[in-house]
Amino acid sequence: MSSDLARRFVEVFQSEPEIISAAPGRVNLIGEHVDYNDGFVLPFAIDAVTTAAIRVRSDSKIRIVSQQKPDEVYESKIENLEPKSGPNWTRYLLGVLWALKVKNGVDILVESKVPQGAGLSSSAALECSIGVALNELLNLGYSLSELARLMQQAENEYVGVPCGIMDQSISLMAVEGHALLLDCRDLTVQQIPVNFVGAGLRLLIIDTGVHHELIDGGYAQRRSQCESAAKILGIQSLRDADLELIKKYQMQLSELEQKRARHVITEISRVKKAVAALEANDFVQLGKLITESHISLRDDYNVSSPELDVAVDTSLKNGALGARMVGGGFGGSAIALIKDVDAGMIAREIEKAFKDSGFKPPRFFDSLPSQGARILKTN
Ligand code: GLA
Repeated sequence: MSSDLARRFVEVFQSEPEIISAAPGRVNLIGEHVDYNDGFVLPFAIDAVTTAAIRVRSDSKIRIVSQQKPDEVYESKIENLEPKSGPNWTRYLLGVLWALKVKNGVDILVESKVPQGAGLSSSAALECSIGVALNELLNLGYSLSELARLMQQAENEYVGVPCGIMDQSISLMAVEGHALLLDCRDLTVQQIPVNFVGAGLRLLIIDTGVHHELIDGGYAQRRSQCESAAKILGIQSLRDADLELIKKYQMQLSELEQKRARHVITEISRVKKAVAALEANDFVQLGKLITESHISLRDDYNVSSPELDVAVDTSLKNGALGARMVGGGFGGSAIALIKDVDAGMIAREIEKAFKDSGFKPPRFFDSLPSQGARILKTN
């Protein structure tokens, strides 16, 4: 794979790349919409990656090409980097150059195999593939958590998407066979072994095909509802709240703020229980927690969609141990923890339910917990 990209790089830029790197997308087992509330999340990296080939130039020119649009070369200059400038998809890369304060020009060729718009963090994969490569190539010396914060800054300030820290952290820090328990306040981590295969299980990923954009407003609105609730409660973030505190302040908090806070508080406690369930190989309990997470996201956080609900309900009706929407919501993907032998049957039932509801056909993926960002080759 990396040699194909190197060959293509030479064709496009007439010189060898200095480094080739890869960074994965992710699913989140549990802990949704809690990263920007300083909570705990439990994502794992999927096996689909974005691969990047890079060469640092002696002048200040930037050239970017994507294998997905091989005939388009985007050109700019390092001194012209300005937040929110550049065609949409290039901003994720330009933002990284900007956040890392790169001084020289670069030639970049990227190839993304992470499904886009599916809520599987194709944007974090893009950012981290470049970030990890430049950190190495330019000897920047950033730790993975520092790099995650810089990638988030690129997305927040350069691209203009108000995402939290989960996606960049998992793309950078994932370890094969493990989910990452990430404390989103101080970015300390614990690698939690996940043994679905040993238990005859699989995590089915159901892409509803409904495109979601964090930039669309619903996500930013949830964030600000949480921030205003924390302010009223007199705490730094909702991580510091419990249900008793919400009850005590019920006259001061709006009904929506109470619902949002309830989701965040209960979700953080579900993450902790999910870790215990994984450690005990208690997948029935894990499944229950996953489904409870969906109900909370649907009813208290209001970020599900009819397609996500049909995917979840159909999975559960056909024997899934648990199912829920993942990522920002309003579309994107759902996950279902299912018996391996049921995979074909459940996929067919979901396809049928989508057809009956007049939705476009879903896509299915599955992945074991895979490795995080890595350098594939240096010259
Ligand atoms: C998106 C964001 C993450 C996180 C999730 C919801 O994926 O990029 O930071 O907030 O939504 O958990």
